[in-house]
Amino acid sequence: MTQENFKNSLIGESPELNAVLWAAKITAASDVTVLIQGESGSGKEIFARVIHNESNRKQQKMISVNCAAIPENLAESMLFGHIKGSFTGAISNQKGYIQEADNGTLFLDEIGELPFSVQAKLLRFLESSECQKVGSTTTHKMNVRIIAATHRNLREEIKKGNFREDLFYRLHIVPLEIPALRERTGDVQLLLTHFTHSLAKQYHVEPTRYSKNAIKCLKAYSWPGNIRELRNLCERMSILLAGKTIEIENLPSEIKNIQNDEHLVSLPDNGLSLEKVEIELIRQALDKSSGNQSKAARLLGLTRDTLLYRIKKYAIKHH
Ligand SMILES: Nc1ncnc2c1ncn2[C@@H]1O[C@H](COP(=O)(O)OP(=O)(O)OP(=O)(O)O)[C@@H](O)[C@H]1O
Ligand SMILES: [Mg+2]
Repeated sequence: MTQENFKNSLIGESPELNAVLWAAKITAASDVTVLIQGESGSGKEIFARVIHNESNRKQQKMISVNCAAIPENLAESMLFGHIKGSFTGAISNQKGYIQEADNGTLFLDEIGELPFSVQAKLLRFLESSECQKVGSTTTHKMNVRIIAATHRNLREEIKKGNFREDLFYRLHIVPLEIPALRERTGDVQLLLTHFTHSLAKQYHVEPTRYSKNAIKCLKAYSWPGNIRELRNLCERMSILLAGKTIEIENLPSEIKNIQNDEHLVSLPDNGLSLEKVEIELIRQALDKSSGNQSKAARLLGLTRDTLLYRIKKYAIKHH
């Protein structure tokens, strides 16, 4: 993929996206370590590519490694390489991803999943640029720019003991936070048009169109799978409804059910017990307000008396 193609494929003009893009381009010029954070499907990998392609390493390789796919017992050798005979199965000298990325960029995707046992070794490498193959006694200086990405909250992972704090601070020099799609609804229509047209070309079909109401609905949706989810929806619509105008009723139920604010919750097809829902909500309100009945009543839009009446009626106990 050429750089020009690549630039064209990063779609969005919302101020939220532009701010991150601007930061990405500035950091691209230096070799500083970048930590890209963002929800699943928000475009972390695409941003890593932008940084590499805007850097003076762009003629060199960017090696992408998914840390979640590295088995713990092979992690060190896969990253740092090994020499023949260093462990059972090490039948020849082998380069690691770091050596492969020499002079270029190493993109460590899902860094939160990197086995704890190699985190210390990665930190040492980040601080010294010295790489030691498994089984070797010598080290070699490497010239690698590291970009890491994660959908996890690494501070939480540190608290849980899954991620080294020192490594976190070493990676966190320049953090880039990719906004979720729901935080930049201004880009929804642009992405929709882009994907619809490129998919129509790919499948040799007439592009679908989206009615005003359908677009409104898509903008109100929360997109837990972010851009990937939007792209997949466009793909489904392009195939099933080529050349048609998509109305709200053509949208998947999880999207069309939030079409207006009147539908705060949606009734399951097989119904539910209103009484059970009421009891559950009262319990939750009491939990949230630590048993303070006036606060709980406010959370439910009731007077304290009405709440007390219902607590008594359903014999709700709260501890
Ligand atoms: N701004 C954008 N413009 C166009 N396409 C985008 C944009 N952001 C993401 N995409 C597309 O959405 C999909 C998901 O993006 P990407 O793989 O970069 O997300 P991610 O954050 O790495 O997701 P995950 O956490 O699941 O690995 C890809 O197909 C990518 O090309
Ligand atoms: Mg990714």
